[in-house]
Order: sequence, then structure tokens, then C-alpha cells
Amino acid sequence: MNVSDALKSRFTCRSFKQKPVSREKITEILEEALHAPSWANTQPWEIYVANAEKLDKIRAEYLEYFDQDKPRNPDVALARTWPDKYQKRIRDLADEMYNHLKISGTDEKERNASWRSNFEFFNAPAVIYLCMNQELGEWSMFDMGAISQSIMLAATEAGLDSAPAINLVVHPEILRSELDIPMELSIVLGIALGYKNDEAPQSSFKSSRRSLEEVVKYYE
Ligand SMILES: Cc1cc2nc3c(=O)[nH]c(=O)nc-3n(C[C@H](O)[C@H](O)[C@H](O)COP(=O)(O)O)c2cc1C
Repeated sequence: MNVSDALKSRFTCRSFKQKPVSREKITEILEEALHAPSWANTQPWEIYVANAEKLDKIRAEYLEYFDQDKPRNPDVALARTWPDKYQKRIRDLADEMYNHLKISGTDEKERNASWRSNFEFFNAPAVIYLCMNQELGEWSMFDMGAISQSIMLAATEAGLDSAPAINLVVHPEILRSELDIPMELSIVLGIALGYKNDEAPQSSFKSSRRSLEEVVKYYE
């Protein structure tokens, strides 16, 4: 697979099948992703992987929190509000997704089940947690984005599907305790890894994009 195909076929996989991912495969993906660029080669990332039974244990604790309505409290704060046009894109994504899943706006039960699947890590067999030192700032966060996409593209090339999700890191105390992540690290993002469940409608959902004409101003 070339980079262009990987860029176009990667998507946020929100339903994984029950097929394990081997440690070798995850290591191969991470080895490739470590080639990502960073500010003056500072390489701010620290990576923790939870696979198989370890992830199942974390998943059970997350679901318990979800069912108890525990508030989300990630190390990197959630934005309280978004300016209107971005808020609209968030709403559009939800509308497009629920339309695709044939879940109506008033079907609270189905919407809740779909939201809950986040805290079940979409049934993924493995999650990669991306952390960085709390003292680092915005430029290091930029680097975290670069390594995230590198991991996801390497996963695509390796025949795996992935899902970057803030909801995987909204209970950092569980992750710190299960994975021995020190307090000085912010747990920034989780990337779920596995194989898409072809039977689930989630696996055929493709989010829309703004057009090239809208985004790009080109001069020569
Ligand atoms: C930093 C970040 C956090 C995200 N968190 C979530 C999440 O918690 N749950 C979720 O379903 N998707 C999450 N996503 C996935 C986005 O919704 C998705 O990337 C976007 O809608 C574009 O769709 P695509 O990835 O399928 O191309 C996240 C993506 C990023 C980059």
C-alpha cells in the first residue's frame, strides 16, 4: 500500500471484531511511527500499550465508571465551547453518523448505546496511549498529532484499523494505576487498534470533508 492509499482508506473505526493483534505487529507499527518529525527532534512522546487481558481489565473499569455516570476528566482539558462554525461541524458529524446508523434524534437508548461504545473502546483488542510531559506546551502537542497520524497510517499499511479517541483517556487515574504511568506525564490520546467488524454499519461510515476550494487559497 502506498501513502496515498493509506491516507484515503484510514478512518475512525468504531466497531472492531474480536480478533487479537500481536505484540509483533504493534511493535512494527510503532517502530515505523517513531520516524515522525518533532520540534528540534525533541520527540516528546511516551507510549504505553494495553493489549489483550490488560485492556479488558481497563475496559471493565471504564464501563463501570460509565454506568456510574462518572464525569470525564482527561489530563488535557476538554474544550468547554467551540466557536459556532466548529460547533456546527461537530453537530454535522453526529447527524451524519446517526443517519448512517439509522438512529433517530429521539432514540435516546440507541444514542446512549453508541456513546457507550466509546467507553468500551469500540471493542478493540489493543489501545496505544500517547503521553507527554506535562511541562511541555503547544508545539509538543503539534508533535503528538504528527506521531498519532503516523501510527494510524502505519497501522493501515499493516492491514489494521484504528480509532483516535479522547474518550479512551478520560479517566487517567485508571490508566495510571493499570499501566504505571507517572504523574508527570499527561495522557493525551488513545488510539484503538484492531480489525474492523465488517458486519457493523459503523465500519462503512465515512465522514465528510470540506472541499479543497473552500480550504485552500492558492497563488502563483
Ligand atoms: C484528537 C482526536 C480525538 C478524537 N476523539 C474521538 C472520540 O472520543 N470518539 C470518537 O468516536 N471519535 C473521536 N475522534 C475521531 C474523529 O471524530 C474523526 O477523526 C473525525 O470525525 C474524522 O473522521 P475519520 O477519522 O473517520 O476520517 C477523535 C479524533 C481526534 C483527532
